[in-house]
Amino acid sequence: MIKKIGVIGAGTMGHGIAESFAMFGYNVNLYDTNAAQLEKALNEIKAEQQLLVEEAFISAEKAAATMENISIHTDLQTAVKDRDYVIEAAPENMELKQNLFKQLDGFCPAHTILASNTSSLSLEPMMALVSEARKQRMMVCHWYNPGHLMPLAELSFFGNMPADIYQQVADLYASINKQTVKVLKDVPGLVANRIQQGVAREAFSIIEQGIADPIDVDKALKFGPAFRYATTGQLEVADFGGLDIWCIVGDNLLPAMDNSTQANNLLRQKVAEGKLGIKSGEGFFRYDAEQLPAIRKRFAQKLIHQLKASEYYK
Ligand SMILES: NC(=O)c1ccc[n+]([C@@H]2O[C@H](COP(=O)([O-])OP(=O)(O)OC[C@H]3O[C@@H](n4cnc5c(N)ncnc54)[C@H](O)[C@@H]3O)[C@@H](O)[C@H]2O)c1
Repeated sequence: MIKKIGVIGAGTMGHGIAESFAMFGYNVNLYDTNAAQLEKALNEIKAEQQLLVEEAFISAEKAAATMENISIHTDLQTAVKDRDYVIEAAPENMELKQNLFKQLDGFCPAHTILASNTSSLSLEPMMALVSEARKQRMMVCHWYNPGHLMPLAELSFFGNMPADIYQQVADLYASINKQTVKVLKDVPGLVANRIQQGVAREAFSIIEQGIADPIDVDKALKFGPAFRYATTGQLEVADFGGLDIWCIVGDNLLPAMDNSTQANNLLRQKVAEGKLGIKSGEGFFRYDAEQLPAIRKRFAQKLIHQLKASEYYK
């Protein structure tokens, strides 16, 4: 049974992953090569826990216990030597991850399961430098940002790992209230990001063609398909509508839609102009720098409200 957790990399994803396990009582060792980043991560976790208390999602005692459950480390061996499950959220670089897994293979006990939170790298080459025995205990566990609020975790079951090891990890994620998706093939983007890119490609293309303004494109999604998607998946929606209708509409609409195989030109143009979104003050919309903390807080509050309303949240 998995009890002790190691998280490697304390950035955007790593701090949220550590926080999620700690919130549910797991002992977590959080490692980063940068000591200042570890302190920053602890402060972020504290602030995020505080918001959960403000929103009456957890008690102040639970927030305090979350902090107690996390210890920070700058020595990798100390951080992982007694861990049952170690997940890395280090930079998205194949060579870096290969070397990291080689080190983890050497430092961790034989039973430790190793995971990568990679968004785009294949598992097979990531395992190149680990022992044959460890290859049966390695997988991708892909989280969504912000990790402590988004319920999804995509877990790989690509054929290198016995079913009972996969089940241990699926049970671990169920115990921290995550909804797991079993991904059977090592394809870029796994499942959720592929679906999201399909939607994004058409949304960007609609803007590029001047079919609607950004505010209306987002409204069409939030109050149309996405309003249903929060409770009813695409395949259920297709079944409800009738596959015969989806077949006819698909034949009529798909030839008129964007099928490009690279990022949208309008997006590329905005990037070239320095319009990167909230981090630069403008993307599809404008953002007042002074309002940014409130905008970020509101984003988290809305996710907390959705979690509270979700029938899956225990
Ligand atoms: N940001 C997202 O929305 C998101 C979502 C899902 C998955 N991911 C994946 O998660 C991973 C981390 O992404 P992120 O956005 O958290 O990155 P990040 O840059 O915010 O954090 C990376 C952290 O790793 C640390 N680091 C650098 N070298 C290291 C090493 N050798 N060992 C340990 N730590 C090291 C850095 O100091 C930093 O704190 C990537 O593989 C990324 O593709 C990101």
